[in-house]
Amino acid sequence: MIEPASPEVITRAGRLIRGGAAVAFPTETVYGLGANACSDTAVAHIFEIKRRPAFNPLIVHVGSFEEAAMLGDFDRMAYALADAFWPGALSIVVPRRRDCEISLLACAGLDTVAIRVPAHKTARAILAAAQCPIAAPSANASGEVSPTLARHVADSLGDALLIVDDGPCPVGLESTVVACSGGQPVILRPGGITFEAIADIAGPVKVAGEHDDGPVQSPGMLRQHYAPRSPVRLEARSVAPGEALLAFGRHEIDGASEELNLSAGGDLTEAAANLFAMLRALDRPEHSAIAVMAIPEDGLGRAINDRLRRASRPGPWD
Ligand code: TXA
Ligand code: MG
Repeated sequence: MIEPASPEVITRAGRLIRGGAAVAFPTETVYGLGANACSDTAVAHIFEIKRRPAFNPLIVHVGSFEEAAMLGDFDRMAYALADAFWPGALSIVVPRRRDCEISLLACAGLDTVAIRVPAHKTARAILAAAQCPIAAPSANASGEVSPTLARHVADSLGDALLIVDDGPCPVGLESTVVACSGGQPVILRPGGITFEAIADIAGPVKVAGEHDDGPVQSPGMLRQHYAPRSPVRLEARSVAPGEALLAFGRHEIDGASEELNLSAGGDLTEAAANLFAMLRALDRPEHSAIAVMAIPEDGLGRAINDRLRRASRPGPWD
């Protein structure tokens, strides 16, 4: 339901998010669909509600630079950009800290995390109430334009969800996404902060895709998808010697060198929540390959299969 951003509603939104539910709320850029960024299951709900056919890495919202610095490694350039534009419409992609507590699903299994400190007073109040980092993509169904009014969110996602209404989003355009992991920053998505404003702080910026032969592609950090090193074999009904098994549901496959089950009960939300952490856990040189059982192609199964198909092909990883 759509509810005005009163203190009571903000407190409730914070409590819901902290407890693992997804809530739509305004930011200065667009309305976001937020959930506890430290919980794989909460983040899986976001993908479920958005009906995303693929797991894209999400932007993690926090209240301050100090909180951001607990999640990612900010080099000099990342720090300068945060200092200039936060709070505001800039998301900065930095390497995950070793002790980063953000869900691997929120980062699509990557070693990087996109972080933003929003300026909108209601977004900030909800962050304070939730007391956890909030992963929030735009609050629209996959393939639709981003919502800038509470009503847009309801039109796209229905109103079973709590939608905190605080009028139109002042920027009305998603945040600019810039990647910083040493060297020149790379703009991955244009948005609310202009290239010129970024260049004023960072010097000449690169734009992803415009320098295909340069160093831009090489750091690997621009990859938007986690790529296991081990071969991944799909639709497995048995395992070869040395293969690890990524199972789904009940089964009678014997002989795996190691087995993890995405969801013994066959629950796709649970499977999505476990996907990246389990792929990583099985991605070890002592296994000759990761054999993955078939996953039903419906609901979140589509996004899981999209990721698994990418993982089963050699790069490049778009
Ligand atoms: O304005 C915004 O940024 C809104 C509001 C709600 O904050 N959020 C938003 O999130 O637009 P979303 O999920 O729709 O877009 C996230 C963008 C995608 O282009 C994604 O590929 C990129 O950020 N991204 C996130 N994490 C990344 C990472 N680790 N590496 C590269 N790109 C990343
Ligand atoms: Mg979006």
